[in-house]
Amino acid sequence: MKGILLAGGSGTRLYPLTEVTSKQLLPVYDKPMICYPLSTLMLLGIKDVLIISTPRDLPLIEKYLGSGSQYGIKLTYKIQEEPKGIAEAFILGNDFIENSSVCLILGDNVFSFAGSVNEVKPSSNFTGAQIVGYHVPDPERFGVVEKDSYDQVISLEEKPKKPKSQYAAVGLYFYDNSVVKYVKELKPSLRGELEITDLNNRYLSEKKLSCSTMKRGSVWMDAGTPESLATISDYVRTVEQIQGLKIACLEEVALRQGFISQNEFFKLRNNIKEGSSYRSYLDKVLVNGKLT
Ligand code: G1P
Repeated sequence: MKGILLAGGSGTRLYPLTEVTSKQLLPVYDKPMICYPLSTLMLLGIKDVLIISTPRDLPLIEKYLGSGSQYGIKLTYKIQEEPKGIAEAFILGNDFIENSSVCLILGDNVFSFAGSVNEVKPSSNFTGAQIVGYHVPDPERFGVVEKDSYDQVISLEEKPKKPKSQYAAVGLYFYDNSVVKYVKELKPSLRGELEITDLNNRYLSEKKLSCSTMKRGSVWMDAGTPESLATISDYVRTVEQIQGLKIACLEEVALRQGFISQNEFFKLRNNIKEGSSYRSYLDKVLVNGKLT
């Protein structure tokens, strides 16, 4: 499975934070926001990722993450000229996807799983599309999913006034290769965008849309507003301080996933200038050749 990380949008709701920089490079406590969705893809075992962003922001993101080889993954980049909708990622990613299945993650979505990411991972032979639900207090702000006891989706509505459930459809989606065909048949919505919910509803009309649910204790947040950005930063800081383990530390994830060797990990650590708590943290991850 390949991955697409959509880091587009103008970050309007975060003005003036986003006036001169990318939303996805803003800090979520101690690291840039984009580390969180990228680490989720890596934890899913995805090593081939297309990052899509705006003409203004893509060069900075590429400067930060580079080819990905330092983390044992392959990153490629593509510009989205205008914000024409989340589903446009599959038009822009057409050549990248080839014959693969694909996972799309939104660049402002932060995940922290109580156990492991496997709670939302589709089986290796899955067909159709799989979305992920998360219990929220304010479902009307999101895509809202209603499902049956077999995890099949009954309805999916974008920002409904009267939500049919308390479950938001989070910005993490899994598709089989028919996504490439379906997205080309989508019509832009009234606001002129290719809507992810319309794409998912196309799968629903074929009875091929399932939904996994994030467990109690797992955390998801769309960090696209000042309030949610501060809340998720507080969360990351609290967990990291209590537990002494970082969330979304790319070097650590790459090592634990077996994407890089211990020597490569040391090289990454040595390339960080002395004086940051981040570098000191890496010293605690691997002690005498053993993962702590
Ligand atoms: C988008 C999707 C929505 C989903 C949300 C998750 O909304 O349209 O279905 O629940 O992402 O972050 P947006 O952030 O564009 O308002």
